[in-house]
Amino acid sequence: MFFLTFVSLVELSAEVDKVDYHVIPMPKEVVVDSSNVFVLSDGMGLAYDASDEEICRNAQFLRQWVKEMTGIELNLTPNDKKAAVRMSLVALSEKEAYSLIVNGAGIQIYASDYAGLFRAAQTLRKSLPMVDAKKTGVSLPYVTVNDHPRFEYRGVLLDCGRHFFSVDFIKKFLDVMALHGCNQFHWHLTEDQGWRFEVKAYPSLAPMGSVRKETVIGPYKSGVYDGVPYGGYYTQEDCREIVRYAAERYINVVPEIDLPGHMQSALHVFPHLGCTGGPYPVRTTWGVSKEVLCGGNPETLVFLKTVLGELCDVFPSKYVHIGGDECRKHRWHECPKCQAKIKELGLVEDGKHEFSKEHQLQSYINREIEAFMKERGRDIIGWDEILEGGLSGSSIVMSWRGIKGGVAAAREGHRVIMSPNVYSYIDHPQLKETKNQPRTTDSYIVSASKVYSFEPLVPDDLTVEQQSLILGAQVNLWTEHVAYPNHAFYQLLPRLAASSEVQWCLPEQKDFEDFKVRLPRMEEIYDLMGVTYCSQIE
Ligand code: ACM
Ligand code: ZN
Repeated sequence: MFFLTFVSLVELSAEVDKVDYHVIPMPKEVVVDSSNVFVLSDGMGLAYDASDEEICRNAQFLRQWVKEMTGIELNLTPNDKKAAVRMSLVALSEKEAYSLIVNGAGIQIYASDYAGLFRAAQTLRKSLPMVDAKKTGVSLPYVTVNDHPRFEYRGVLLDCGRHFFSVDFIKKFLDVMALHGCNQFHWHLTEDQGWRFEVKAYPSLAPMGSVRKETVIGPYKSGVYDGVPYGGYYTQEDCREIVRYAAERYINVVPEIDLPGHMQSALHVFPHLGCTGGPYPVRTTWGVSKEVLCGGNPETLVFLKTVLGELCDVFPSKYVHIGGDECRKHRWHECPKCQAKIKELGLVEDGKHEFSKEHQLQSYINREIEAFMKERGRDIIGWDEILEGGLSGSSIVMSWRGIKGGVAAAREGHRVIMSPNVYSYIDHPQLKETKNQPRTTDSYIVSASKVYSFEPLVPDDLTVEQQSLILGAQVNLWTEHVAYPNHAFYQLLPRLAASSEVQWCLPEQKDFEDFKVRLPRMEEIYDLMGVTYCSQIE
């Protein structure tokens, strides 16, 4: 027995160095005792409470990941107190908190909730070397890892309006998010260029609104088009499947119906909802359309409430995003119906903005929608424009035009998600030299180090109490120039890895040079998952 252990330790000494608990995102506390190892080998048991389906699912994930990384196949041995690997729930003070302990008794995973078990299993997955250790086993240095996320909202946006991405792609996207500890998938479902959400009350909305006649080639004002019809939408069953898949990975799906601007695809189907009556093609180029839903037509609110009612049936998320960005006010300024509504509501110029009455008309719509969503137990999130013209209490502001909207919102007592474009818009180039890079949204570079450097609490501008209103941070993958899965992952990675440390780690723990040292292990996993990434980092 002693001899066997000795031999295997000698054989395995090469693997010892390869186990590394310093993963991405970096756990809060990692205390390693490299002088001792536990040898994990094929056929060992993985135990959990058999009566608990959710722990069982997490055990299956862990089993799968250990096999993928090392070839070692663990046996699921529910309720076996002597199993080499054990997962259980305990009382810990933080949400999603976990401890991962390796010692002579094996590997123990304790967590405060199911999500914590999942995060712990991910940490163990990322700590393992990618080796064929089925015959030899892997030697894990003794360790105590204690960890929990810094922010409760750790998001990624995928724009499926400009380009449509398949359900299979989205599942992989969610797997990649989960690998990075993200827990909010912001699904941008509607755009001027395509309506992607099936609405049963309006059977023609998605089939017609999802298809544009053609797509601009190159910069959005190039005037050159490909002549190829483009479309695709998600049935409600597709959406439910995505919600289920995400939930199993402890990711909430925040659906977005962008209103009352970015609605040209809906106007194509229902031109009477526009101020001019149309006709409106589904938009074939990028940029911001001046065609928006009419703010004075009562049918606009009927339409929106019908759509959002069905959205709530499909998506259980507490948060629903209602967009609110870039709603140009020119049509409303000229539209008799909009002006009549402004008069009826008694809105007057307040000098705060150009078109200030029209801004207040948008606030009126926001409030109507907010009340409608409240009845369904939902809180709305809107882009920072929803602050203009006034905003009621429980709405959450997503700051995208830099941090100033988020700072202003927190000062007004609103909850905030930070997603400032210069740090978070990963549709922009990640390298200075763009010559051999895929087309992106130009104008500024959002390098991995830039993403990494973001501090969501902006302590110089906010009091500690105001900082407590910052729920978290998000990176956004807009897809004007991103039509294919490989390109999408290339834009995402490794910037999502950089963002994951913004979302998960305390600022005093962050160190970009150290992050770069830890990145190659992540890249091995990207390779294993078959996702593309940018192998250069600036
Ligand atoms: C945005 O980028 N228009 C939210
Ligand atoms: Zn109008």
